[in-house]
Amino acid sequence: MKNQTLFDVTGKTVFVTGASSGIGKAAATCLAECGAKVVAIARRENELKIWSNNTIGVTSFFSADISNSEKIKDIVSKITSKEGDPDILINAAGLNTREHADDVTLEGWNKTLDLNLSSPFFMAQAVVEKMKEKKWGRIINYASLASRRALPSSIAYGASKGGIEQLTRAMAEAWSQYGVNVNAIAPGFFPTELTVPVFNDKERSIRNAKQTCIGRNGNLEDLDGPLLFLCSNASDYVTGQLIFVDGGFTAK
Ligand SMILES: NC(=O)c1ccc[n+]([C@@H]2O[C@H](COP(=O)([O-])OP(=O)(O)OC[C@H]3O[C@@H](n4cnc5c(N)ncnc54)[C@H](OP(=O)(O)O)[C@@H]3O)[C@@H](O)[C@H]2O)c1
Repeated sequence: MKNQTLFDVTGKTVFVTGASSGIGKAAATCLAECGAKVVAIARRENELKIWSNNTIGVTSFFSADISNSEKIKDIVSKITSKEGDPDILINAAGLNTREHADDVTLEGWNKTLDLNLSSPFFMAQAVVEKMKEKKWGRIINYASLASRRALPSSIAYGASKGGIEQLTRAMAEAWSQYGVNVNAIAPGFFPTELTVPVFNDKERSIRNAKQTCIGRNGNLEDLDGPLLFLCSNASDYVTGQLIFVDGGFTAK
């Protein structure tokens, strides 16, 4: 059946950063349940181990801090020597320090840009050669409403996510001719550790839901369909794009 082969990820090796929580964890679960071999990457080893033990499918994990881009090549070579080269890279690790513009520190600024903008590029650079050799690869970044909208107390985050939008295009320009498509998912508001302050503010959370066309905030499973599309042959001719999965927030 064409619908089954088109979106098939069976047997693909996938590296997922940020897989100990939220959107990365949901992506890792979805891909493992769909038959991919998933390597979950984040700092909290115990969370990764619990995830791996409780998830249906072929899973493994590697505990690493990827915020220092100088160490990424080394980290990736340790993972690939154990797990093989990835066909798909999901760059979901991210943070938001939520500092107001007046209070942003250099430390907070660098921490945000290092993890949210630099690590996706250097993770990709460390795995792309083998994808090019295979003439097939998929790299998925996570953009945000903050790629296009100014959110309160998120100036460094917004800069990093604006950067991700352009980085995604630039990566696509560099690598798509070799069969490696690069796209980004731009989620609306989804309940994760990152957005606890947003969802704890009931008024803001209701306001965000009302701003969407659909009338609610996101559930993590809303991201599964767009993710499978971008990870599979269904998106063979799609690259350098941001797909907003935001219930129509940015349509209004
Ligand atoms: N939630 C939303 O509504 C939303 C909306 C738009 C965009 N996004 C984007 O989606 C992505 C995932 O966000 P989320 O909401 O799922 O956040 P989350 O629940 O806070 O998860 C962040 C992940 O990043 C990992 N991480 C943080 N620092 C790391 C480091 N130094 N090295 C390695 N891993 C690190 C964390 O694991 P450890 O702590 O174990 O390292 C965790 O697995 C982010 O890029 C975020 O900007 C989220």
